[in-house]
Amino acid sequence: MHISKAVYLISSPEVDKCPKADRPEYAFIGRSNVGKSSLINMLCKNQKLAKTSGSPGKTQLINHFEITSTSKEGMKDFSQWYLVDLPGYGFAKVSLNQRRQWEKMIENYLRKRENLVMVFVLIDSRHEPQELDLEFVNQLGEWEIPFTMVFTKSDKENQRTVAKNIRSFLDAMRETWQFLPAHVVTSAIKQTGRDKILNIISELNQQ
Ligand code: GTP
Ligand code: MG
Repeated sequence: MHISKAVYLISSPEVDKCPKADRPEYAFIGRSNVGKSSLINMLCKNQKLAKTSGSPGKTQLINHFEITSTSKEGMKDFSQWYLVDLPGYGFAKVSLNQRRQWEKMIENYLRKRENLVMVFVLIDSRHEPQELDLEFVNQLGEWEIPFTMVFTKSDKENQRTVAKNIRSFLDAMRETWQFLPAHVVTSAIKQTGRDKILNIISELNQQ
């Protein structure tokens, strides 16, 4: 799949204000600062598309990007779909009230958005399994929302540590999951995992 165009569309405070649900949609979610916006930019090869930041809590709304893709570069066929950049969870500096608001907004979005095909859950590959991430994937399981795990920032640690952290995360999941969802290892800097994620999207777009 070749991305021929990627444009920022709109930021919405709630699911009812999102663009018309008339094309396949893929959302990126995970802890604050895990690299959601950077991953979207890497996939679209446009560093200015989604706003990134060294300080957590940058993305606060539901951000829609409209993507146009063709099967190969230069081909005439095209399809259009949405990428969605969501605010991160687990940001320490927010009040309980703000956190509840976030949880409600995200739950509504995830459970009500009828064109949502797949959620990509980003997990920082530098760390051992974090309770918050495990809780989140388990919650998605309870809601029966399909997701793929994305282990980010793999360029920042040596490969043995990355592999060990991923293995531990998957082992922790096995306590509640009989079959594990797919996972991808990424680096926004080295473009690792780009083809794999685009292939997943391309196949789902055709269903
Ligand atoms: P919020 O919107 O605040 O929740 O953050 P986010 O998940 O969108 O993270 P963002 O993409 O803004 O990235 C956070 C920081 O991590 C930035 O300084 C990025 O440059 C850095 N970063 C993201 N992905 C990678 C990666 O794959 N490798 C490295 N080395 N740095 C990364
Ligand atoms: Mg962001």
